[in-house]
Amino acid sequence: MSVAKETVGRKAVAYIESGMVVGLGTGSTAYYFVDELGKRYASGQINQIRCVSTSTQTEQQAQSLGLPTVTLDEVNHIDVLVDGADETLDSFSGIKGGGGALLLEKIVAQYSRKIIWIVDQAKRVDYLGAFPLPVEVVQFGAWKLFHTFDKAGMQPSFRKKGVDSLFITDSGNYIIDLHLGKIEHPEQVAFELKNMVGVVEHGLFINYPNIILVGDQQGGYETIERPTIIQ
Ligand code: A5P
Repeated sequence: MSVAKETVGRKAVAYIESGMVVGLGTGSTAYYFVDELGKRYASGQINQIRCVSTSTQTEQQAQSLGLPTVTLDEVNHIDVLVDGADETLDSFSGIKGGGGALLLEKIVAQYSRKIIWIVDQAKRVDYLGAFPLPVEVVQFGAWKLFHTFDKAGMQPSFRKKGVDSLFITDSGNYIIDLHLGKIEHPEQVAFELKNMVGVVEHGLFINYPNIILVGDQQGGYETIERPTIIQ
């Protein structure tokens, strides 16, 4: 159990108001957010919300707590999305997809008015890339992409499920993790990956969150908030 993850997961519920459409992230930190939201909803402190999940795993948790869930296509937009991340920069970019949900997380994020990332302080970094960068690829020709990454020195590895099977995402794709070490120019890497046929999505989230809550193991947390430009 991580005190830091639980702290920021539960604190993030403060951003949710009755009547909102709420995006539910995926992972062990988002788990606490969904759990706390479920409690507040059950007690009537928060009501008339609708929730859009970023994975079947989160959808199951939300439903088990009695949270009202809808699909992304049933709503116009999401008011607040709360999600975890694997690495974050204070310049509001990061790597996501350690849990394999990057594609749905990025799609939901596109339609979210406010995005809050919840992380423990070990994930706050000066450079991205120590965490393997997940790339979701279609199954057809996946080994071709693998060899391309390999030749480019990107140290790819297929995400596994157990010892023998490859991990399959909620959308039926594979994930290739790239061990890049240090990504000097994330925008350039994101651009190049996005232009490779067979790549569905990558885990570089450039300029996404409005707020990052960074938890520590003592139960405290820091709020990093993107400045708003008032016109
Ligand atoms: C899911 O695919 C990911 O993007 C998660 O949000 C991310 O890996 C953070 O996961 P944890 O909260 O479990 O560390």
